[in-house]
Amino acid sequence: MRAVYANQIDQDNPLSCLTVGERPEPDLPAGGWTTVDVRFSALNHHDLWSLRGVGLPADRLPMILGCDAAGVAPDGTEVVVYPVVDDPADPRGFSLLSERHQGTLADRVAVPQACLVPKPAEVSFADAACLPTAWLTAYHMLVSRGRVADADAVLVQGAGGGVATAAIVLGVALGKRVYATSRVAGKRERAAELGAMAVEPGARLPERVGVVIETVGAATLDHSLKCAAPGARIVVSGSTSGHLATIDLRRVFAMRLELLGASMGSRDELAALLRLCAEGRIRPVVDSVFPFGDARSAFERLSSGEVFGKVLLDHTR
Ligand SMILES: NC(=O)c1ccc[n+]([C@@H]2O[C@H](COP(=O)([O-])OP(=O)(O)OC[C@H]3O[C@@H](n4cnc5c(N)ncnc54)[C@H](OP(=O)(O)O)[C@@H]3O)[C@@H](O)[C@H]2O)c1
Repeated sequence: MRAVYANQIDQDNPLSCLTVGERPEPDLPAGGWTTVDVRFSALNHHDLWSLRGVGLPADRLPMILGCDAAGVAPDGTEVVVYPVVDDPADPRGFSLLSERHQGTLADRVAVPQACLVPKPAEVSFADAACLPTAWLTAYHMLVSRGRVADADAVLVQGAGGGVATAAIVLGVALGKRVYATSRVAGKRERAAELGAMAVEPGARLPERVGVVIETVGAATLDHSLKCAAPGARIVVSGSTSGHLATIDLRRVFAMRLELLGASMGSRDELAALLRLCAEGRIRPVVDSVFPFGDARSAFERLSSGEVFGKVLLDHTR
């Protein structure tokens, strides 16, 4: 079958490790696994980390990349794949597809039956494929970890990323005032079109916020702390600009801040997101769609840092 996979890892030149070619049909591990014929998949920064060897040691290669997919189960049901697989051998207690088990950037992917979430007919395969990683993480960060129901205003750092655009759309749909930072004027304009008040990185906000959505990391964490209202939740799920950040602990204790980690979300949260889409309350932001065979261009687009929203692969083309 056709697949996009890592055949080696390279910290400095991840795209040199990418192969678009043929891989064997998936093996079905014992214990209730099934297959999904993938119609659309979406890329994530996670795929670039994998090509750099982060979370993907060389002894697991070759590995088909990809966490996100929507497609058709063997009984004809239209489904979205929940990419979190229970994994006692992993220190987190789980792994994502493409870490230990082959990923979604292929004609077919093997997944535990429990990871199939029915796709509502109102939601396209393309929109559904956006949700399992970036959108699920943004939802979990806002709703569960950030307790956004108790906040009036939200700050989203790094407006263009998949998690960030999702957090803007969700925050606005939940009735919050959403501020978003971006280094790029064009992305600030796009964020404003989604309903955010877009500012330059480090800018002083007109108010302090109750929740900060932080995926940029070292470059923005200090600003995230400065913008936080007393008792605010700063929820961190990524560190694209660097893992090691210096924070002023006086802000943490004086403002009684909560600095919270987040990683993905639950299957029920993915189902809730699909319902919001089906009701027309949210629509995923798509940066670009590439035919499956042009996956390399899709990866070049993702790694350019210019994306605004999700980069998709159309497996039917
Ligand atoms: N833990 C989880 O469950 C989970 C799930 C999904 C993603 N993640 C992580 O979350 C992060 C975000 O992923 P993503 O795919 O949404 O987006 P991304 O492509 O990593 O980009 C996010 C934003 O980061 C900003 N940025 C990048 N480098 C920067 C720098 N040096 N200085 C300042 N800003 C910088 C850019 O904002 P501007 O250009 O607009 O300034 C960009 O739009 C990744 O690290 C990813 O691994 C984690």
